[in-house]
This record gives sequence, structure tokens and C-alpha cells, in this order.
Amino acid sequence: MERIFGRPIVTQEEMRARIKELGKQIAADYAGKDFVLVGVLKGAYAFYADLARAIRIPMRVDFLIVTSYGSQSKTSGRVKVVTELTEDIRGKDVLLVEDIVDSGLTARYLIKKLAKQKPKSVKICTLLSKPERRTIDVPLDYVGFKIPNKYVVGYGLDYQQKYRNLPYLAVLDMEGEQE
Ligand code: IMP
Ligand code: MG
Repeated sequence: MERIFGRPIVTQEEMRARIKELGKQIAADYAGKDFVLVGVLKGAYAFYADLARAIRIPMRVDFLIVTSYGSQSKTSGRVKVVTELTEDIRGKDVLLVEDIVDSGLTARYLIKKLAKQKPKSVKICTLLSKPERRTIDVPLDYVGFKIPNKYVVGYGLDYQQKYRNLPYLAVLDMEGEQE
């Protein structure tokens, strides 16, 4: 890492504790259902791996790889799905796992896309939400942390594809960055 980050906005301990709670809640809500946990890559990879292991009920795992167009630190709202699901989700209860919901455009797009495959239900679990930035009113069923309007990296989240492997969440200091 060529950049030194300051105090984490969410520490590894806070993350672990919150994910344990989310896992218990999700397990209680989905027990006995035909449950598919769908991760949105790349951003959700770290959260997904920890969350899936905290949900102690049978599940299928699947992934969508998504890229967004436009500048690196702002969402253009144009989402490109690079790979499709491998599981047939018809009649199943799907929980979409996102890294962060910012404007809400990506989440709405993915919900609509999955709904076309006729699942029994589709809900969203996002590690982070930036409510101040929301332009689309998308219902978030499970939220790890609400954060202020700051650009964050680490624990799966990137800035120009870097810092995803930082083990905690940190605010990126944009000074000197070319957006
Ligand atoms: P939305 O479509 O505006 O809700 O944006 C969702 C996507 O924007 C996320 O999946 C991230 O890839 C990206 N994003 C938004 N805010 C941040 C941030 O603070 N750090 C890293 N990526 C972000
Ligand atoms: Mg990103």
C-alpha cells in the first residue's frame, strides 16, 4: 500500500461484531427457505465471505460481476453486468449482498434484473449505506453501517481498483487525487 490511512471509520472488531448480528438476523429470517445468497463483485467479496459464514443455515451461493461506467469515485448510474448467475433462482428467496448503496441506482438496477428471473423474493443486504447521497428510494432490508458522505476504501471497496485488501474501512483523502 503506497498510502498510509488514518483512523479506520469502521474497525475490524466493529465489522466482526456487526456481521455476527446480521448473520443471526438473516438466518432467523431465511430458515426453512430455498435461500440463495448473491454477492455483487468485486466490491462485496470480503463482506460476502464473512457474512456467508455468519449465516448458519443451508444456502446456495452465487455471484454477479458488475462494473459501472464513468469516473472512479462517482457512480454514473450505468451498470454493466459482466457475468450472469449460475443458479436458477426461479421460486427461490434471494438476498443480494452489496458493498455500499450510494445513489441507489445500482441496487435498483440489480433488483429489477433479478426480478425478471422470477424469484420468490429479492431483498438487499448492504455493508454500508450513505443515506445523504440517495437519489433513488430503494428499500434496504439489512444495513451494516450508515456512513456520512465520505469516500471510503478497504474491506472490498476500491479507489481505482486499489485498496480493496485493506482489512478495515478508511476514508480516502481526495487531496491530490485526480478524479
Ligand atoms: P450507487 O449505484 O450510486 O448506489 O453506487 C454503488 C457503487 O458505487 C458501489 O457498489 C461502489 O462500487 C461505488 N461506491 C459508492 N460510494 C463508494 C465509496 O465510498 N467507496 C468505494 N466505492 C463506492
Ligand atoms: Mg467500485
